Amino acid sequence: MKSIVILISGRGSNMESLLNAVASGSLPICVAAVFSNRADAKGLETAAAKGISTRVVDHQQFASREAFDAAMAEAIDVFSPDLVVLAGFMRILSDVFVRHFAGRLINIHPSLLPSFPGLHTHQRALVEGVRVHGCTVHFVTPALDHGPIIVQAAVPVLDGDDETSLAARVLAQEHQVYPLAVRWFAEGRLRLVDGRVEFNAPQDSAGALISPLMR
Ligand code: GRF
Repeated sequence: MKSIVILISGRGSNMESLLNAVASGSLPICVAAVFSNRADAKGLETAAAKGISTRVVDHQQFASREAFDAAMAEAIDVFSPDLVVLAGFMRILSDVFVRHFAGRLINIHPSLLPSFPGLHTHQRALVEGVRVHGCTVHFVTPALDHGPIIVQAAVPVLDGDDETSLAARVLAQEHQVYPLAVRWFAEGRLRLVDGRVEFNAPQDSAGALISPLMR
C-alpha cells in the first residue's frame, strides 16, 4: 500500500477529510505521519486522536528558509512516503525542497488556478465579481500556487455571498476533491508528462457548469 505524509499549519480540516476517507475504506493508503511547522496547529490534536504519528518542525528554530526546509525534508524522508500532501501548510517552500519531492508533492489551493494564487482568494474573487469560484489540487512546482493541475471543483458565487459563506462552499468541495486526487495517485492513475497531468480514467462527465443558472 502506498504511504503519504501530510503537512499542515493550522485547522487541518483537509487533513481530517483525508484521514476520514482512509478510515471509511474509500482511500486505500497509509498515512505515515502528519507534520506541522507550528506546535499549536489544531490539526495535530485531530491527527493524534485518530492514532496518527505527529511531528513538529518549528520554522522559528531555523536561521533560514533553506535550513528549515532541509530539516523538514530529512524528517519526512524517515517515512519514505510515496506522496507528500500539503494541506493548509502556510510556508513557501524552497526550490531545493520542491525538487527533492518532485512528482510526489501536491497542494490544495482555494481558487480555480491560475486565478487568484496567494492569499485571501475568496475576498479577491468577490471583489472581481467572478460568478464561478472553487479549488484546485495540483502538483507543486517552484512557482507559488502553480503547477500541473490534477483536479478542480467549481462552485457558484451567489448574490449576498461574503467571504465566510463563499469560503465554506469552497471548503466543502476541497474535502471532496483532495481525497479523490490522493486516491487517483494511489491507484497509479496520475502521470506527469511534459509538465501536464495525464489522467488514466474515462472522461465521461463533460458537462458544463454555468453560473448564474439559466432559467
Ligand atoms: C484550505 O482552504 C486550503 O485550500 C488552503 O488552506 C486552507 C487550509 O484549511 N491551502 P484546513 O487547515 O485544511 O482546514
